[in-house]
Amino acid sequence: MAERTFLVEHRYLNLPVKNNAEKRVVRFVVDGAEVYRFDIELAEGDADFWVYADLALFQGTRLTVAVDGVAENALAALVQSDAPLGMDDLYREKYRPQFHFTSRRGWLNDPNGLVFYDGVYHLFYQHNPYGWSWGNMHWGHAVSRDLVHWEELGDMLYPDPLGAMFSGSAVVDWQNTTGFQDGDDPPLVLIYTAAGEPYTQCLAYSTDGGETWVKYADNPVLGHIAGHNRDPKVIWHTPSRQWVMALYLVDYDYALFASPDLKTWRKLCDVHIGDATECPDFFELPVDDDPANTRWVFWGANGNYVLGHFDGETFTPETEVLRYAGDGNSYAAQTWSDTPDGRRLQIAWLRVNLPGMPFNQMMTFPCELTLRTTPEGIRLCSSPAREIADLYCQGVHWVDEMLELGEDWLNVVTGERFDIYAEIAPGAATEIGFVLRGIPVTYDVTATTLTCEGRTVSLPLLNGILSLRFLIDRASLEIFGANGLVALPMGVILPEVERTLRLYVEGGPAKVATLDIQELDSAWGCHSADSAFAS
Ligand code: FRU
Repeated sequence: MAERTFLVEHRYLNLPVKNNAEKRVVRFVVDGAEVYRFDIELAEGDADFWVYADLALFQGTRLTVAVDGVAENALAALVQSDAPLGMDDLYREKYRPQFHFTSRRGWLNDPNGLVFYDGVYHLFYQHNPYGWSWGNMHWGHAVSRDLVHWEELGDMLYPDPLGAMFSGSAVVDWQNTTGFQDGDDPPLVLIYTAAGEPYTQCLAYSTDGGETWVKYADNPVLGHIAGHNRDPKVIWHTPSRQWVMALYLVDYDYALFASPDLKTWRKLCDVHIGDATECPDFFELPVDDDPANTRWVFWGANGNYVLGHFDGETFTPETEVLRYAGDGNSYAAQTWSDTPDGRRLQIAWLRVNLPGMPFNQMMTFPCELTLRTTPEGIRLCSSPAREIADLYCQGVHWVDEMLELGEDWLNVVTGERFDIYAEIAPGAATEIGFVLRGIPVTYDVTATTLTCEGRTVSLPLLNGILSLRFLIDRASLEIFGANGLVALPMGVILPEVERTLRLYVEGGPAKVATLDIQELDSAWGCHSADSAFAS
């Protein structure tokens, strides 16, 4: 065992990581008691990247760092600092998404604790602060005023004796049902899974509008029910004046629970949504913007959903199991609580490996969900949150022009990041194709299917028009078809040197009713040198 003891005088302890090195358990000990532990692929020679532990809680103490199985000098490299080390090219790394949220360091997966309060969108997320792969689940925390520019604040929930910090949600407790209020701000409450033995549901809260958070002293608030029950999503149900929790239980079982105060829960009913597991969401939406005609959506991590009615006791499905965005790489989507304008905004984990980076995985761009009547019935639709327009820097636009065989209008455009919208009447064309920075996206007019990266989805024409929207970033291509009825969020690393776009037709000419190409700024403030529209 190697040990090092030092006086904590700076905010961070920096640790070197070597990918695929043997995993070591690091223990922090203060006054003879273990206060924190995590595992890490600790570099004993050259590091692939540096990670950091936040020492805010240990300032002024003598901290012992103990690691089993490494030579004494393996800890010599550990160093304190006031700002994390190795961040010189932060947000400019080769595969760093430029308008999607990623963590500065380490692995991320599910979005958690999405809540809006006092002008701020909170985004918590499943985070491994110490490695490129899943593990050591903490809740990372980031905030934004516009859903586009995010500030990462650091880890807010740490593993504790009840377990690792698995997924969950957040609410504003406007009526102080919890009694947590202390000051002018209503309590903001996180409801999360402690993944110990067994898995239980717990609370943490903030009395200062979301800046600082503490765990509830009487956790857990919902004991073990079955299997690895987890991922509570809580909403306030106004008609029955109670909190309602959707929870994943075991196998393909979900359930709803109710509570007057977030602290005591009773079961309402079971819910099944086909082969979905994990991360439920549960919310009400107007159909075709009509507030007098609403449906409840029960959603699972893989994009399975069911529409139905909810009376405060029972969820009554009225559709078969439907599927949204399930063919792409997104997972575990969650919607924001307490949005100021009633928009139902959703963000998801976009599964993509980013090799060689000091971070891994990304979030989708936030989307607004709606329910629309279609020939098949009522369906979920989504479109990128309108705030994306904040990043528009230059654009080109075509209206009502024929695209002939062999023509390629887009050879005037080069760049890295785009928001592209097209409405095309196929006419005599049998195939309409885009090649977006080297990635082909092909529409088969006869089969009415769209194919990209080996995935094929059915995409109907709307009144004879093909509608497609693409968001393009360094490691993602998010495709929306038929005005958001179809979504194909793809995690894919776009070739760095390939900056061109193509649009072509096969079989005959097509009429382009609208083609809008907007180049996007980086949300992190770095522009790629060669990105430009030639005239
Ligand atoms: C979904 C999930 C959740 C769990 C979390 C752990 O991706 O497996 O069920 O809470 O991730 O990181």
